[in-house]
Amino acid sequence: MLTVILKKEVEGVFVDQFYSFNSVLFPSRIMNASGPLCTWEQELNALGESASGAIVLKTTTFEPRAGNDRPKYFENEWGSINSNGLENLGYKKYCELIPKLKRFNKPVISSLSGFSLEEFTTMVGALDQAGADILEINLSCPNIAGKPQVAYDFEMSEKYLHTIRSTTEKPLWVKLPPYFETIHRQEMARILLKNEVNGVTLINSLGNALIVDPEKEQAVIKPKQGLGGVGGKYVKPVALGNVFTFSQELENKIPVIGVGGIYTGMDAFEFFLCGAQLVQIGTAYKSQGPGIFARVQGELNELLQRKNYARIEDAIGKLKVVEGEEYGFGA
Ligand SMILES: Cc1cc2nc3c(=O)[nH]c(=O)nc-3n(C[C@H](O)[C@H](O)[C@H](O)COP(=O)(O)O)c2cc1C
Repeated sequence: MLTVILKKEVEGVFVDQFYSFNSVLFPSRIMNASGPLCTWEQELNALGESASGAIVLKTTTFEPRAGNDRPKYFENEWGSINSNGLENLGYKKYCELIPKLKRFNKPVISSLSGFSLEEFTTMVGALDQAGADILEINLSCPNIAGKPQVAYDFEMSEKYLHTIRSTTEKPLWVKLPPYFETIHRQEMARILLKNEVNGVTLINSLGNALIVDPEKEQAVIKPKQGLGGVGGKYVKPVALGNVFTFSQELENKIPVIGVGGIYTGMDAFEFFLCGAQLVQIGTAYKSQGPGIFARVQGELNELLQRKNYARIEDAIGKLKVVEGEEYGFGA
């Protein structure tokens, strides 16, 4: 049974095969990212049966959405580009599904994105009531034409998070896009701390990117003239940089959930070194299916053993600075 334990416990404590975050118990630190293969009931059941540490639902909107025109997804050896356009069943349907997903005995994390603050607060209230363990507030969908990402507007983000925080006592995670300036990371970290959010998931897809098919001389996806959100190996260094900076700025007061380019146990390990407490997998889960969670966990366990770590906790946030000249190729 998932039980709420102490209100003010230390994050990440491991008891009886569960890690505790925000008083919610996770059977593993590795889980799916919102988006790929988590929209339909069948997909959510498959996540329940898999080794994923949680069931993270597709970002829901107020109304059901068909999303953007196809083709809207493309993947190659370096990663993916998508312009999904938030294809989902609408929050009322997810409110019906959530109670059924509780049987899998792992956290049910409901991601949501409103087109207005009122839509956000209505959905937060309903998903909370339906029994979601954690609400992941998506302020960073890059694929809705004419709708800029809230997370790039700091004033609006602060207003939204302040109001949303006052409508629920459930743990709130915030899903963020990549930031490229330290000052932006610092400003967003200040907003997250001030509004007492409980987790920060980063990064969402790298927005408005373009993958070109040079043979056909065209973009590989249709919506928005081919512009879409990129994930996979393309984005791992960007994700790691964001995870590293945010972990430091948040001073371990808010757990960081790392996502972007995880395919292997080694990739996950890099995120933990940079300060992530939990990790999520998007693109690689879409191409490899639910077996990926057990595989990545197994690879991570082997890696830890080889490196003589008794537990992953001992490696979290332990990234070292370079002291020697081992990477000094000329410059
Ligand atoms: C097809 C697809 C759909 C996505 N939809 C969502 C979404 O609905 N909500 C969200 O927060 N992120 C969404 N994402 C972003 C992923 O959750 C993740 O942040 C991003 O892809 C980086 O992780 P990855 O490199 O493991 O793919 C989507 C990604 C893909 C590939």
